[in-house]
Amino acid sequence: MRASAPARRIRTRSAVVAAAAAAALLGSLASVPAAHADSDSDRRRPARTLHELARESGRYFGSAVDNPELADTEFAELLGTEFGQTTPGNGMKWYATEPERGVFDFTAGDEIVDYAKANGLKVRGHTLLWHSQLPAWLSEGTWTKAELRSILKNHITQVVKHYKGKVFAWDVANEIMNEDGTYRENIFYKVIGPGYIADALRWARAADPKVKLYLNDYNVEALGPKSDAYYTLIKQLKKDRVPIDGFGLQAHLALQYGFPGGYEENLRRFADLGVDVSITELDIRMQLPADEAKLAEQADWYGRVTEGCLEVRRCVGITLWGYTDRHSWIPDFFPGEGAALPWDENLRHKPAYDAIREELAEAAEDD
Ligand code: G3I
Repeated sequence: MRASAPARRIRTRSAVVAAAAAAALLGSLASVPAAHADSDSDRRRPARTLHELARESGRYFGSAVDNPELADTEFAELLGTEFGQTTPGNGMKWYATEPERGVFDFTAGDEIVDYAKANGLKVRGHTLLWHSQLPAWLSEGTWTKAELRSILKNHITQVVKHYKGKVFAWDVANEIMNEDGTYRENIFYKVIGPGYIADALRWARAADPKVKLYLNDYNVEALGPKSDAYYTLIKQLKKDRVPIDGFGLQAHLALQYGFPGGYEENLRRFADLGVDVSITELDIRMQLPADEAKLAEQADWYGRVTEGCLEVRRCVGITLWGYTDRHSWIPDFFPGEGAALPWDENLRHKPAYDAIREELAEAAEDD
């Protein structure tokens, strides 16, 4: 039997505090155990990776990668050994895959699929439809409803067919809701209307009957108007027999905003609708400079996110949005914030790594 959630959380916290304290004693947080140091209790066997631990309870543990990062061989090697899943950070987005109308370019996505295959990682497709990073020909064009439906159908069909059998899931529609739970007025909503979501899911299913089809967004980890809107939408889609297999919670969290309230209950209510849930883009940023207390709090959060997923049977896996502070979107988008990942810039473990590991290891023992 697994310990009750609070009991396990207390154990995680104490481990985290111990790790942080040990690091402080050594004089630098950069001196927490190196990337492959063994923290498994059985030292006769090589340490199991985070993914190997996650796999024991039927989940994957992954990290996103942006194409240029593959040239960082130290980074790429650790990605290929520690993780069991990856998501292209940019390589499968519309601007990359259909840079001109009707002209498809799968170079960037293929590079990641090839890398993943060579290293035994499974791939999440990200993303077929998003308001951001659209090619100028599309976002700056003027379209009738019929034209845009045809463009969307062709894009989804071509991209999904190309990656058929190579990706296990697609973020079909990304970030389609506003914070207040109304539909985001992206180009597809404005021209086609809200029916574009069901259309997109049906076209994706027609192109690949087996791939898992997801809706994906940020700020949906807590119970609240935005996650409520997805709950209502997915319930309706299921009722209408529109193909929908999962809900992706990006989980771009920030210490200064507090841990998402009702996180586990929220995961569970989606699972109870009969869809999978995944943590798709996890990072936990903080206001810089990082210090021991913030890193300990961050570790606690990483442990809680992991634990919540492990508590919900249909939570199928966790993906970090990059695993190291060396390559992260945060400093460019949130000046003055960062240190968001479980590995530091030198690819050394932070307390967050130990917190994730402890949760995965406990679940692996129990299952
Ligand atoms: O490709 C150009 C390059 O030619 C140019 O030299 C360079 C100069 O800045 O910019 C490059 O484009 C950048 C692109 O990433 C590719 O690296 C853009 O400026 C940059 O804005 C873009 O950022 C991406 C961001 O999505 C765009 O919103 C991040 O890498 C990517 O991690 C991020 O990922 C999103 C998910 O898709 C959806 N959820 C949120 C998440 C974080 O924003």
